[in-house]
Amino acid sequence: MIFESHAHYDDSAFDGDRDALLDSLEENGIGYVINVGASLETTARTIALADRYPFVYGAAGVHPSDSGELTEDSLLWLKGQCAHPKIVAVGEIGLDYYWDKPAREIQKKWFGRQLRMANEVGLPVILHSREAARDTLDIVKAEYAGKAGGVIHCFSYTKETAEEYMAMGFYFGIGGVVTFQNGRKLKEVVEYIPIERILLETDSPYLAPVPYRGKRNSSLYLPLIAEEIARIKGLDYDKVVETTMRNAKRLFGIA
Ligand code: NI
Repeated sequence: MIFESHAHYDDSAFDGDRDALLDSLEENGIGYVINVGASLETTARTIALADRYPFVYGAAGVHPSDSGELTEDSLLWLKGQCAHPKIVAVGEIGLDYYWDKPAREIQKKWFGRQLRMANEVGLPVILHSREAARDTLDIVKAEYAGKAGGVIHCFSYTKETAEEYMAMGFYFGIGGVVTFQNGRKLKEVVEYIPIERILLETDSPYLAPVPYRGKRNSSLYLPLIAEEIARIKGLDYDKVVETTMRNAKRLFGIA
């Protein structure tokens, strides 16, 4: 069975067939799904999905692009959601200088606050970091004691940055980009990171792997990602699936 460590099944892209798709996952070898919150509203929808599906777990958090909506009150609400038995992480949180909105100071403030919240509730973090390698590292080092660890999702940086996260005990979420023709930099990073540090993810509905690039993504395409990782690292497909399952269960504390 495959562990899907990052999907957004609350997204409207799944409004037409959400239940049918989720119902089909298990028979297609997908054993667990982390549905990741990206705003207050999608965190609430994540909890509804986790309540409905035994194999769906959730992460509570506000994405940097939506961090302008946070207030002291809503942060307190978010913290309360972390007590739900199926909320296993705080995320996705971080910095996004590609879209670059809201202002960087606002993104940084709420990233730091949500890291501290993760420390307080003792949950691991799911990081989103785009074109913000230095600032993300600095804030993680300053604000996150990191006892519960974390994963940097859709990793897009260099081997040197990977090394810094590895030293902090982080995992790396690897998804469809690893199958792209122009994914050379990521292929090199995947070759370098030990399989014991990798989690499989799709970021559905985004970032579908080749040959579905540009289409709606779903966890059903995870085997394409596992196959490419197996090829790059010269490992058996089953070894990739089993090891990434064990990694994810350890990080998210799922028995
Ligand atoms: Ni995401």
